[in-house]
Amino acid sequence: MARLDVVETFHGLSFPGHLHTEDSLQQALKFSFKDSDILIVSYPKSGTTWMQEIVTLISNKGEPQMSQTLPNWARAPWLEQHYFAALLEASPCVKNRVITTHLPHHLLGPTLKDSKAKVIYVSRNPKDVVVSFYHFHNMANFLPEAGSFPEFLNRFLDGTLHYGPWFDHIKGWSSQTKNNVLHITYEEMSMDIKGAIERLSAHLQSPLLEDELNNCVKHCSFGSMKDNKMANYTLVTEEIMDHNKGSFMRKGRIGDWKNMFTTELNTYFESVFESKMEDCPLEFVWDEPQSDETNPTDVASCDKQ
Ligand code: A3P
Repeated sequence: MARLDVVETFHGLSFPGHLHTEDSLQQALKFSFKDSDILIVSYPKSGTTWMQEIVTLISNKGEPQMSQTLPNWARAPWLEQHYFAALLEASPCVKNRVITTHLPHHLLGPTLKDSKAKVIYVSRNPKDVVVSFYHFHNMANFLPEAGSFPEFLNRFLDGTLHYGPWFDHIKGWSSQTKNNVLHITYEEMSMDIKGAIERLSAHLQSPLLEDELNNCVKHCSFGSMKDNKMANYTLVTEEIMDHNKGSFMRKGRIGDWKNMFTTELNTYFESVFESKMEDCPLEFVWDEPQSDETNPTDVASCDKQ
């Protein structure tokens, strides 16, 4: 199923037709979650693959065997994509199924309403999200032409890119305060990966010994994942992702937006951000901290509302 140029429109949002069909999106909203399921939720480019790696490693007590032999999309398939049912059936994660989704809360919330599935919402500062998404559009042939960065930024701020508005996504999911939902940020993971894994393993009720924790840290590092073909998307053919145009594991940093935003673009972004986030008190980490400033308690995570 190539459908590289097809756009699937669902509830007013567009999705890449290469991965989604009307039926797969409908089926996602009818999915029957088990309380033992683990659901990773994110807006694209927020650290989804990183979280898939971390959850796989925690579930395997830090042993990398599974994360190095099975592609991320098979270990933690996307609920709304057309291959989901087949992958889930073949999944080795029998006890705790790991499922991923980019769907916004207003669509998936009703499906999850009475479920105790363990949800992990990963967010990232939106300037780095849009820059990462821009570079990804340039290499992923199943996404529309990116155009110039200022044009792309406009589409991001208008909410007309694939997967819909970032603003709705963050507001919808961040307002979920039930115990089964853990909020974590890309920046928190960048600044204190050990602490982040500890929070995640507690949420997943999967305690780790010190050695196991250290192994998780080691195998989910940017360098390890960049070299892991089961996580770096190099298994995907050139027709679908042009690896000559960029790497999926691109920079993995906080604050790379500064290389793309001019002063004018930044002013424009801030004014739109301020008005759209007026009703949402979340704070974001926009810059890589100086090494002596690193202090996980400074990280504004989504659950501090
Ligand atoms: P950049 O393009 O800024 O480098 P997603 O998986 O949601 O599509 O997010 C992809 C982004 O997460 C990319 O960001 C990628 O480099 C980054 N990423 C993936 N694994 C990472 C890791 N172990 N450490 C830091 N960043 C990581």
